[in-house]
This record gives sequence, structure tokens and C-alpha cells, in this order.
Amino acid sequence: MKKVFIYRSFERFWHWAQAVLIFFLMLSGFEIHGTVSFFGFENAVKYHNVAAWAFMILIVFAVFWHFTTGEWKQYVPSFQNLKAQLDFYLFGIFRNAPHPTKKTVLSKLNPLQRLTYLGLKVLVIPIMVISGILYMLYRYPQKDGIIALNVDGLELIAILHTIGALMLVAFVVVHVYLMTTGHTALSNLQAMLTGYEELEDDETVAKKTNTVTSI
Ligand code: HEM
Repeated sequence: MKKVFIYRSFERFWHWAQAVLIFFLMLSGFEIHGTVSFFGFENAVKYHNVAAWAFMILIVFAVFWHFTTGEWKQYVPSFQNLKAQLDFYLFGIFRNAPHPTKKTVLSKLNPLQRLTYLGLKVLVIPIMVISGILYMLYRYPQKDGIIALNVDGLELIAILHTIGALMLVAFVVVHVYLMTTGHTALSNLQAMLTGYEELEDDETVAKKTNTVTSI
């Protein structure tokens, strides 16, 4: 095993800022929806809007970072080992089986993570942002009397935004559980906090898998 610097500082900042914002958007969003009661409805609407702007600004920086560093390649789907990874999470993990894929700096995500995170990035987050902005355009023009910008009807927007929110809730639950299934229960968390993780060195990985792990 070798201690490897795997998560750079912006990446860790982006991950934790995104986690806090999504948690906050969930809490305030489900208060607007009427599911929970925490800040009071009016405050929930105010806070949800502020957090949503912060989230969208963070997305702009994250997109820039992913493309300038080439880290977007981490999310290119790979179907090799996909079934093995699924089998591991469903069965192998309970029998102490070894992880079917090895983490390296050039390939941090297993095939299931690649697919899930890609789905979040190209589907769920865009749905939340677009439906959220349409929601904003529906409300604010009314308040300011700019009828020309009004969006027709809230029903579809509300349904899409709420389905996306439920998908994010499901993702967060699974994500937090899977976070504990690394090399040790806390190794993934520690890596995202410090940037460093104990990984098998490349030679050992190459010998064991007999494959080139870079993408
Ligand atoms: C850029 C992202 C987002 C924007 C622009 C946005 C914007 C909005 C707006 C304007 C509303 C309506 C507030 C009102 O009634 O005045 C709303 C409602 C809501 N938001 Fe968001 N939001 C975003 C992200 C999220 C996220 C990440 C979640 C949860 C994970 C979320 C969950 C909700 C929920 C559950 C509602 C209530 C929907 C309903 O009952 O109709 N939102 N959002």
C-alpha cells in the first residue's frame, strides 16, 4: 500500500461545498414542499434562493475546473467490471470479498460510480437547475409585475423539481452508506478531507488485474 495524493484542494472544496449546499437545499426545499418544518415557510423560500445561487456559481467553477484539468475523463462510462462491481455491492461485500476494481489517481471511480456521477451531472443536476430557474422566473416576474417573462403554469416544473430532489435524497443516502465501504470504514471520508488515501501501488494493481488502469 502507498499513501497517494488523490483529491486536490479545489476538488475537496467543491465536494464539501456541494454537500453542504445540497443538504441545505434539501432541507429548505422540502420545507417549501410542506414535508418538514424548520425555518418557517417564508425564510425557507429566501434561504433556498440564496443557496440555489451559490450552488449555480459553484457549478460554473466546477465545470471550468473539470475541463481545464482534464478531470472530466473520470466520468467517461466504462462497462468493464460493471457487473462485478454490482455483485460486490450486493453480495461480495457481505462475504468480505476483495474490491473488484482498484482505485488509482487516473481512475478514481469504479464503473458504477462513473455511471451514477455522470447521470447526476448530465441529467439530475441540469433538471434541478433548469426547473429551479424556471421556478424563479415564475415567481419573480409576478412580484415585479413583469408579466412578459412569466412561465406558463407551475405543475410540470414542480413535478420535475420534486422528482429531481427525491433522486438526490436517494443518492445522498446510498452515497453516505457506500462511503463507509472503502479500504476501512473511514478511509474514503479521510481521503476527501485530507486529499491522501492509502492505495495499492500501480505495479501491484497491474499484476493483480493484468490491465492498464489509466483512461
Ligand atoms: C440550482 C438549483 C436550484 C434552484 C435554482 C432552485 C430553485 C427553487 C425555487 C425557486 C423553488 C420554489 C420556491 C417558491 O415556492 O417560491 C424551489 C422549490 C423546491 N426546491 Fe429547489 N432549487 C434548486 C435546487 C434544489 C435542490 C438541490 C433540491 C433538493 C435536493 C431542491 C428541492 C426543492 C423542493 C423539494 C422544492 C419544493 C417543490 C414543490 O413543492 O413544488 N431544490 N426550488
